[in-house]
Amino acid sequence: MRILGIETSCDETAAAVVEDGERILSSAVASQLATHGPYGGVVPELASREHLRAIVPVVRAALRDSSTEFTDLTAIAVTQGPGLVGSLLVGMTYAKSLAFALGIPLIGVNHIEGHIHAVLIEARQRGEAIEFPSLALVVSGGHTHLFEINAEMTYRLLGKTRDDAAGEAFDKVAKLLGFGYPGGPVIDQLAPFGSPKAVRFTPARMKGNALDFSFSGLKTAVLRWFEARDMAEEVKRRRALLRSNPRPTPEEWLAVTPRETLDLLASFQATVIEELLRRASAAAEEIGARSLIVSGGVACNSGLRAAAQSAALPCPVYFPSPKLSTDNAAMIAAAGFEKLRRGELSDFSMPAKANLTLA
Ligand code: KG4
Ligand code: ZN
Repeated sequence: MRILGIETSCDETAAAVVEDGERILSSAVASQLATHGPYGGVVPELASREHLRAIVPVVRAALRDSSTEFTDLTAIAVTQGPGLVGSLLVGMTYAKSLAFALGIPLIGVNHIEGHIHAVLIEARQRGEAIEFPSLALVVSGGHTHLFEINAEMTYRLLGKTRDDAAGEAFDKVAKLLGFGYPGGPVIDQLAPFGSPKAVRFTPARMKGNALDFSFSGLKTAVLRWFEARDMAEEVKRRRALLRSNPRPTPEEWLAVTPRETLDLLASFQATVIEELLRRASAAAEEIGARSLIVSGGVACNSGLRAAAQSAALPCPVYFPSPKLSTDNAAMIAAAGFEKLRRGELSDFSMPAKANLTLA
């Protein structure tokens, strides 16, 4: 059973072919980083236009890489939301047209559920059984959510960010300091060169649900730190570096980044990791979780991976491989396979939903 997955919710155009919900035969991703980088964030209109340009070649690449013909496909799974509505519409319109032309089922998938399936499909590939109830920490540029998942794959929302998502905080701090977009990968690379204890940030205290997150206070504290120094010259040097080379190496960044700034990056990252793991650990305890799934772009963070492995968590923790952590379509096809098995098909009137929730 071969499912074509299509993902266009944000700034990656992705298509993948997954067999029987466990073998990733191909996974093609066209990144729009070069388009949005100079703006320091995703520009929705440009994203839609780039998806339009990329969708046909990306689907062709996914089929070619997996030696699949259109007529070999059993169903098409596509991201229905959450995401940018114009971007979602490109993938959904393409998926609907193709499903209609081929006369095969169409399956709308929640992007967040896709991120969770990135971990489940890789566990199946390894022949490993993830035990339930599971706690999922989905951390990306758009989401910071904690869900309880039971064996029937139903979800209960336990906590979420009240303001910025964790990835968004990485992106905003990087932008402020002249490191470009996206911020997560650069901060991840440079944090080991600074001291995580150099700058003290106050942990966010939540009124009401203690499992909710907040990163706006941390972002403001970084802004205050920035304003208390004369940073203009070094930020100018980093912006110049980015103009001459859109993907500087860590060595090139280090040449234009003083120790004090590296300390700030290390301390910022350590604080985000601490906030994520503290709540994940409390939530796992609360629901008696037998596994912890961490997924989404921020799950690429090497500091977070190391901290999660060494933290005294009450259950085993699972991360996707880095290429399945950020947006991709293999996770959408994997989630689609589960829905197909349960007979949860969509019809051609399915709308794109910018704020689609999972629970
Ligand atoms: O899942 P994703 O590709 O897209 C969304 O659904 O948002 O996540 C992108 C986010 C960006 O905010 C990016 O800065 C962050 O993931 N990210 C990272 C790392 N790699 C990507 N954050 C921290 N460390 C990383 N290594
Ligand atoms: Zn995502």
